[in-house]
Amino acid sequence: MIIAVDGPAASGKGTLARRLAAHYGLRHLDTGLLYRAVARNVLDAGGDTSDPDCRRAAARSLDYSSLDAEELRGPEMSEAASIVAADGEVRAAILEFQRRFAQAAPGAVLDGRDIGTVVCPDADHKLFVTASAEERARRRFAELSAAGLGVDYERVLADIRERDERDMRRAVAPLRPADDALLLDTSDLDIEAAVRAAVRMIDGS
Ligand code: DC
Repeated sequence: MIIAVDGPAASGKGTLARRLAAHYGLRHLDTGLLYRAVARNVLDAGGDTSDPDCRRAAARSLDYSSLDAEELRGPEMSEAASIVAADGEVRAAILEFQRRFAQAAPGAVLDGRDIGTVVCPDADHKLFVTASAEERARRRFAELSAAGLGVDYERVLADIRERDERDMRRAVAPLRPADDALLLDTSDLDIEAAVRAAVRMIDGS
């Protein structure tokens, strides 16, 4: 079984995807980590994410065994990842890995922006997870504050809006629900309620 979970930043899709993988006994891939790793490789090499040659070389030589979530999830890599992700050649270079991951037994839950539309258009189930920009900014703000990072709520909200804009407006694989995706708005749901709602949707579809 393949489950595609797409949605904007801080919608809760990552935690939800992990929980669904545990519930159904599937593997899980956070595909945002791949774009973050490409961005990190560009920066580690002293390059610039706005340089197409640099980011494409980084995508082609990506080491899939070194996707350290702790290191890659930091806010400093979010902006850079969103820039490399707008490049069609970067996306093409990491597409095959994602498809192979999804198809290997016993199946998988992949979360990202284009899983239901591009990576796994034939997924058995597709969820598009949303929440208002304000609620997503509140969650991200709470997360960053808990990690001891001094951040400003208005700044976090502005970053989320900017990233939404870039992810939705890009020409290749823009963030959008697949035509056959089930929509799950988590604005008023905590994670337990969101998992219950998603399982109900999947089991009922
Ligand atoms: O989910 P995230 O915040 O870790 O994603 C980082 C960036 O990567 C985000 O701006 C959009 C991009 N991304 C994408 O374009 N396609 C995916 N399948 C996953 C992430």
